[in-house]
Amino acid sequence: MRHLLDTQTLARAEALRILDVAEDMADTQSREIKKLPTLRGKTVVNLFFEDSTRTRISFEAAAKRLSADVINFAAKGSSVSKGESLKDTAQTLEAMGADAVVIRHPASGAPRTLATSGWISAGVVNAGDGTHEHPTQALLDAFTIRKRRFGADSRGRDLTGIRIVIVGDVLHSRVARSNVWLLAALGAHVTLVTPPTLIPQDVSNWPVRVLYDLDEALAEDPDAVMMLRIQLERMHAAFFPSEREYSRRWGLDPVRLARLTGDSIVLHPGPMNRGLEISAEAADSPRSTVLEQVTNGVSVRMAVLYLLLAGERNEDEMGSPN
Ligand code: CP
Repeated sequence: MRHLLDTQTLARAEALRILDVAEDMADTQSREIKKLPTLRGKTVVNLFFEDSTRTRISFEAAAKRLSADVINFAAKGSSVSKGESLKDTAQTLEAMGADAVVIRHPASGAPRTLATSGWISAGVVNAGDGTHEHPTQALLDAFTIRKRRFGADSRGRDLTGIRIVIVGDVLHSRVARSNVWLLAALGAHVTLVTPPTLIPQDVSNWPVRVLYDLDEALAEDPDAVMMLRIQLERMHAAFFPSEREYSRRWGLDPVRLARLTGDSIVLHPGPMNRGLEISAEAADSPRSTVLEQVTNGVSVRMAVLYLLLAGERNEDEMGSPN
C-alpha cells in the first residue's frame, strides 16, 4: 500500500486485508507489553490543518505502539499564519525525515494533491479532507461493526447482508462518504436518513437508499445505527432546521433508542453533541460503541501504518513484542 486516500477507490480485498491486520494488531494490544518493534527507525508526521482529538492522537498512539518516531504539526501556531503553502510545509517536514504523512485538511482533495504532485515522496494517509473522505474512520467503523457481529471469528469476514442506517448531516460528512463506499464494498445495505436540505445532490450515484423519516428506518430493525455530528461550522443557517426541530425529528432520543432490537448497535464518530443528534442515554447505553470505536481506531491505524511502511517484509515480526 503506497497511500490511503479514500475508500471509494479502495478494493474490497485491500479493505479486508487492513481489517484483518487490524485484528492482529488488536490482539497485540491486549498484551502486557503493547509496543512492537515493527516500525523502528521510521518517522510518521501528523500534518493537521484542522482540529482533532481522536484521529490525531490515535495516529500518534498507533505509530508509537509500532516504535515509529512521531512529529506532530498543527497549523495553529505554525508558519501557515505567515502564508506558507501546503507544498512548502510538507516539504519542510519531509526534510526532517518523514516516511509517512498523515494529513487532515479543510480542502477536499488536499491529501491526493500531496500524494500525486511529486512534492514529497513519503506515503500519504488521508485523516479527513473537507467534506470528501475520512477513510480510517470508515475502516474503524467497519471493524467495530464486524467485531460486534462476529467476535473472535471476524477475520476474513465481510458485512454481507448487514443493515446499517446512517443518520444526520450527510451533506457535510466525510465520515458518511467514506462509510458509504466501504460498507457497500463489504456487502452491507446502507440507508441514509437525513433532512432533505442535508443530502448531497449526487446521492443518486451512491450505493444507498435514502429516507427522510428516522422512525421509518428504525422500524426496519437495523443492525447498526450511525449518528453523525451536525457540522454547523460548514453549513449555511438556511440549510438547518432549529436544533430543537432537528433533535425532535432526527435525534436518537431515549424513546427511539428503546425501539432498537436484538444486538443492534449505535455508532458515532465523535465529537458528539449530546442532546442534539444523540441523547446522553443513547451515547452511554450498552448498545453504544463510541469508546470501542476509539480503541479500535488505534488498531486500525496501526494496520494502515504497518501496511504503508513495513508491508509484507516484516509480517513475521508483527507479533513480537519489544
Ligand atoms: N472522528 C473524528 O475524526 O474525530 P476528531 O475530529 O476528534 O479527530
